[in-house]
Formats: sequence, C-alpha cells, structure tokens
Amino acid sequence: MKARSKPLSQNKHLIRWVEKMAELCTPRDIHWVDGSEEENAQLCAKLVDSGTFIKLNEDLWPGCYYARSDASDVARVEDRTFICSLSKYAAGPTNNWVAPLDMKKMLKRLFKGCMAGRTMYVLPFCMGPLDSPISQIGVELTDSPYVVVSMRIMARIGMPVFKEIDRGEKRVIPCMHSVGAPLARGQKDVPWPCNPEKYIAHFPETREIWSFGSGYGGNALLGKKCVALRIASNIARDEGWLAEHMLILGVEDPQGEKTYVAAAFPSACGKTNFAMLIPPKPFAEKGWKVWTVGDDIAWIRPDQNGRLYAINPETGFFGVAPGTSVKTNPNAMATLAKNTIFTNVALTPEGGVWWEGMTEKPPARLIDWQGNEWTPQMAKETGAKAAHPNARFTAPASQCPTIDPDWEKPEGVPISALIFGGRRASTIPLVFQAFNWSGAVYVGATMGSEMTAAAAGTIGKVRRDPMAMLPFCGYNMGDYFRHWIALQRNLSQTPRVFHVNWFRKDDKGKFLWPGYGENMRVLKWIVDRARGRAIGKETPIGWMPNYEDLDWTGLDFSKERFEELQKFDRKAWRSEVIGHEELFLDLHEGLPKEMVYERELLICRI
Ligand code: OXD
Ligand code: MN
Repeated sequence: MKARSKPLSQNKHLIRWVEKMAELCTPRDIHWVDGSEEENAQLCAKLVDSGTFIKLNEDLWPGCYYARSDASDVARVEDRTFICSLSKYAAGPTNNWVAPLDMKKMLKRLFKGCMAGRTMYVLPFCMGPLDSPISQIGVELTDSPYVVVSMRIMARIGMPVFKEIDRGEKRVIPCMHSVGAPLARGQKDVPWPCNPEKYIAHFPETREIWSFGSGYGGNALLGKKCVALRIASNIARDEGWLAEHMLILGVEDPQGEKTYVAAAFPSACGKTNFAMLIPPKPFAEKGWKVWTVGDDIAWIRPDQNGRLYAINPETGFFGVAPGTSVKTNPNAMATLAKNTIFTNVALTPEGGVWWEGMTEKPPARLIDWQGNEWTPQMAKETGAKAAHPNARFTAPASQCPTIDPDWEKPEGVPISALIFGGRRASTIPLVFQAFNWSGAVYVGATMGSEMTAAAAGTIGKVRRDPMAMLPFCGYNMGDYFRHWIALQRNLSQTPRVFHVNWFRKDDKGKFLWPGYGENMRVLKWIVDRARGRAIGKETPIGWMPNYEDLDWTGLDFSKERFEELQKFDRKAWRSEVIGHEELFLDLHEGLPKEMVYERELLICRI
C-alpha cells in the first residue's frame, strides 16, 4: 500500500505538528487517513500480509478479521496509566501521577526513533456526531494500522473530520501513539509489535495524550478511555457537564413513549448485555421495547432549559466476547455477525471464531488465542481457555438490531434516570432509589463490586469503584464528587437515581435473581418511578418497590424470595458503611462535606 504523504488538511498547526512528531519518531513514511472504504480494504489487506490479521470465512463471517495479540499485551494497563497534571493534588489519590515536564522528558526519549521502519498514520477522529456541539475532535498519530481500522469502527474518522478541523472552530486533542517497536533495515516484523515498557500518559491542562508500548484496546484506541473519559472528564468539569462510564438505553412503553436512562457499572457486571436487553415475552407482547444508544460512555449535559441530554461519543462496541451468546445477548451476536474485528478469541477449522460461553458445547478442535491446538479434553485436563478472558469484538453500533433511531442526534437524548450498579453477593438489594441528589451522589461515590477472577486482587473482596470511574476519572476524585453535586444547580429537572445489584446470592451461594431479560421488571419500575407512576416504600437506604410494585407476569418468583432479595440487613449495612469510610479516608483531602454529612445521616438511619 502506497502511503498518502500529502496532507489532507490545510491547518498549518496540524501540518507543523505532524512534521515535528515525524522528526521525533522518524517513521519510514506518513499516511494521512481519509477513512474511505478503499483505504480500509487496503489497510486490512496489509494487516493480512503482515500476519496481524487473518481473514475469516467470508460465507460465515462476512467482512470479519481475526487478530491475536502478544501474550503480554492483552488488557488496559492501569498501573502504567498516568494523569500528568501540574499538581499532584489535581490528579488525586486514585491516579498515578508524574509531573508533566518529567513525563514529557521520559516520553521524548521513548518516542525518539520509535516508528523507524513503520508508517505513521495521521488519524483524525471525532467523538460524538460530527454536527454535534458536544463532540470533541482529536488527531491520533499512530504507527499501528490495527489501530486505524479499529478506530474506523469505534469513532467517526477521516475526511469529514479534517474538514471540521479546517473550519477551525474546535480545539483539537493531540494524541501520540506508538507500539514502541522500531524496525531496523531488513528486520522482519512480528504479527503484534509492542514493547514491555508501557506508558499511557494524559496531560489534562494541555489536553494531550501520549501512549507508548501497547497496541491493545483502551491503551491504543485513544478516542475511547483516554479522550472520551480521562480528558473529557476534565473538559466536562471546566464546562459544567459529565463525561461518564455509562451505557445509555431508551425504554419504550406500550403507549410508545420513550424514557432514556444512563447506567454506570464496573467491568464484569454485564453492561453491554443491559444496554441491549430484550424484554421477557409478556412485556414484549404488551409493547415494551428497549433501545440501545451506547454501551460504554455517555457525555451528559444540561441543555439551555436545564434538562439533561446525553450522547454516546462512540460509533462501535468494543465488547468482551467470552460469555456472549445468542442466549445471553442475541443483539450483540447479531451486531458482531459481520464487519467485525475479533481479538484474542479462538479460531475454528472452518475459519470462524469461538469463545467460552458462545455455545454450550465447544467445537471439537480449535486454535486458541495464543495460536495453539485446543480441544475440550485438553481444557478439562489443564483448564486452558480457548479465548483470553478479555478477548474482544470491535463491531459497528449501527449493526445493532436495537440501535435507537435517535442514537446520532446531535443534541443527544433526554435523560430521566441514572442507575449505579455493582456485583455484590450480599448486603445490597436488587434495587433501591436514592432519596435526593446529594444522596444519589453518595450512592454513586460509594458503589463497589466484588473482584472477579478477571481482575488482579482478592476474589470476592469489594473494590470501591466510584461511579465506575476509578480507572477513568482524569482528575481528583473528591473534586469529581463536588462537580457532580454542583451540577444540580443548573438543572430544572433532576433525574431520579437508582442502585441495582443483579448478583445477590442466597445462603447456599445461589443467585437470587435470574438477571438478563428479567432485569426489564426492575427497569420498568425505574422508568415508572421516573415518570411518577410507581409506588415505593421508604427504607433507611432509599425507596424500594414492594413485591406488588413489580410486574411479575410470566415469571414464577415468590414474595418470600423477593423479600430475601430486597432485604435491608442492619448489621451488614453497618459494616458496609465502614467500607465507605475506608474509601473516604483514602480520598479525605478533596472530599466534599456533603459526602461526610450523607454518611452521617446514613449511619443515623441504620
Ligand atoms: C472497557 C472497560 O473496556 O471498561 O470498556 O474496561
Ligand atoms: Mn468500559
């Protein structure tokens, strides 16, 4: 493929920056990305040639490609992620911090000559619809064609973005990315170049990102976690809006009226499944329907009338493959059936893909995510997984059967309710509603999830993950809570806020709640509460539905079981609050006093 070295933008600053960065990184050539079909086809062909991609069977998986990463480069690297604000306080106790000048010095050393033998792609991207006032523009300079073709699914890229840059009305976020694997003359490349030394560095004051050493997911597709959460949370604080780790969905009721909610869950809590929920049959027959706006990130801001509106800044889903099936999430399976990039799943002999949980019975033979032969028998003996637990599909959102007709509306969709959730085996009921806004911020701030085998740490221990933003809030967490509290002053309508827990277990360790589509019953109560048409009862932790307040049509679920699921256990809550206190001790420096008062009130009530 011949590189397109002639700039596609007239913007002098952009052209000069590209030249300067090319002097630093010394790529073999420069390619300005136009985002076209032809260019994408050429890049995919190049990736096949270099061994990064395997083209899947066109009859089974049209337009799909398969990639296997290096075994050392399989996930976001939180311990190598830095917020390099001028002061350490500004980054806060939950982020790794290095002074910006020190980090820049280190990065300049690492980036010097780092693209030798490779092409530097000039990749313009827009997070949010191109015609939206809320959108943000960035340019990623990357030496990874895998990043270019993945970003083409996840964001709006190419010529229309250069045009927007040339209009000169929006500030551009400069993003540097290198896999950190320069090639000497004649050196053969590997399928997944990367570097054991990794840095994902954010500079909030200058709104820059520098990422080195990884080609995987959020480390490399810089529009996602780096721009749309860490940098955007800084912009949002300055401008009075919220950049959140939230899905957005719309619930259509039998009258055809839609109510939109945004929901924050830590990883491994079924966020993508919830965003694409299919209501149980009796609900569907009555006319209830769930529409998907986004599965990971929401930018939420008050309009001029003080009503919250949200956009999904992305155009694709970067979903965890294992556990996804026609049973757990048929909409995701339909979405990823074509034009999708699979990374670190297993390969079937027919040129298809498979992962744990996709079918009940695994295929007789596979090539696993590391390129080795895999059989169900071997898995039984050694426990070896065919797919990496963090294997992903990168699929276009437009292919989702439940994608909301308004998902690309420039002004976004109106948000009536917010949901926080976590994975908790005990203590936390299926659903409750916060009493008011500062109580709601407290609920979000103290939310936690039990660690699963997928994350490092003690399995079963509760990790506090405020608003599911622990790895993504680009500034001091205490100031972030303060920003949330202050936001309400600009609202004419405060959204109702709820907490859910699909994962409570009985004393035999069995899940009390069936989850998946049945979560619709809870969602209906939430929507009805937000619209002022459902009853709740007051408890020390918030409003809860009575058994009679949920619609049980088509599900045999006893009142006794429901009461076990909703049980408020005074003793368990006393130790729960001690957990909140531990979090607050960690955050004490910037913690707003409302959080302390809310905790005191909660203690008094319990
Ligand atoms: C993600 C994450 O990949 O939250 O979306 O880790
Ligand atoms: Mn996420």
